[in-house]
Amino acid sequence: MQSTPNFEQFIPDYLAKSAYQGFQASKKAFGLLHKQISDRLTKVVVPEQGTKSKPLSPETLNKLQQKVNQLEETDWQDAQNGVYPTSLLFDNPWSDFFRYYPEVWLDMPKIWERIQNKDYQKFDSTIDREGYPAYYLQNFHYQTDGYLSDLSANLYDLQVEILFNGAADAMRRRIIAPLKQGLAEFPHLPPQQIKVLDVACGTGRTLRMLRGALPKISLFGTDLSPAYLRKANQLLSEISGELPQLLQANAEELPYLDNYFHGITSVFLFHELPPPARQQVINESFRVLQPGGTLIICDSMQAMDSPDFQTMMDNFPAMFHEPYYRHYTTDNLQQRLEKAGFIDVQSENHFVSKYWTAKKPIS
Ligand SMILES: C[S@@+](CC[C@H](N)C(=O)[O-])C[C@H]1O[C@@H](n2cnc3c(N)ncnc32)[C@H](O)[C@@H]1O
Repeated sequence: MQSTPNFEQFIPDYLAKSAYQGFQASKKAFGLLHKQISDRLTKVVVPEQGTKSKPLSPETLNKLQQKVNQLEETDWQDAQNGVYPTSLLFDNPWSDFFRYYPEVWLDMPKIWERIQNKDYQKFDSTIDREGYPAYYLQNFHYQTDGYLSDLSANLYDLQVEILFNGAADAMRRRIIAPLKQGLAEFPHLPPQQIKVLDVACGTGRTLRMLRGALPKISLFGTDLSPAYLRKANQLLSEISGELPQLLQANAEELPYLDNYFHGITSVFLFHELPPPARQQVINESFRVLQPGGTLIICDSMQAMDSPDFQTMMDNFPAMFHEPYYRHYTTDNLQQRLEKAGFIDVQSENHFVSKYWTAKKPIS
């Protein structure tokens, strides 16, 4: 079993901060370079793809840089304040990076073919598509086999890191402080009896962060994709601490008893759901949360809170296959949460993400 290195023990603070900033800067440079090359290639092979997006103004790019700087500062401060160990800031799937980065390039001709043929529901004939909701059977982000193959699961984390210029984990970590605050509602319980569920856990990146921040609590994860759950199981087995319990399930029908969890998180799921499914996932989260429990949702920013980034929000579904994103950006999740029975609904933004924190009332 391997755990992330304990930086606090041998790097002084001022060097650790520079190391963190350098690490983030190198991921950003890598992401930008990758996108520049792959966008150029895509435009050569599929010229119409080049006409689908609008360029961002220098002001927007400037604002984005400010937002990413703020995100990194908050991330650093949360580690300094003990919300999670500093070592989490440096957690990176290096072996997967070296093993699968070439596959990201090798997969591109298949992506171009699907873009050219407008073929967004294409799956290998060996993939069993029985039992999934129709809205799920899509090549989200033009991914080969959608969420339903080991290849897709192996490439996913890398693709997300590239998409967000290395800021994906820093955005995921923004759920930890509000979750810990929510769990403080249960001071009488020993940590082992605190149960937290990550809905649509994917390859387990959020669970990995949660394990680092809350080493003793009982963690659970569900996702519809067996391949992503296999990957999550592999990646979570590498770190110390009890293995989270993973289950394949539709988030619209969570396979748990009423009032079971003390906290629920969900990261980057809601923009991939059609509106009725968004409401149903919120209703189910309400059902399986204990009174006093907290739900934290992290997803893309929305039109109402980031008008400066409207062009970016328009470009995203135009460039990637994201059939429910446009509606998501105008959906009122606060209203949906209150409709389900949640109270004290609060939201905040970090970089290109938005976070909702909501409580299940005690009575
Ligand atoms: C964009 S990924 C996010 C994964 C992960 N939470 C993360 O932070 O990277 C969306 C995930 O939601 C899962 N998913 C989509 N619809 C679902 C549903 N109805 N029930 C359960 N999982 C679902 C997909 O299989 C995929 O793993």
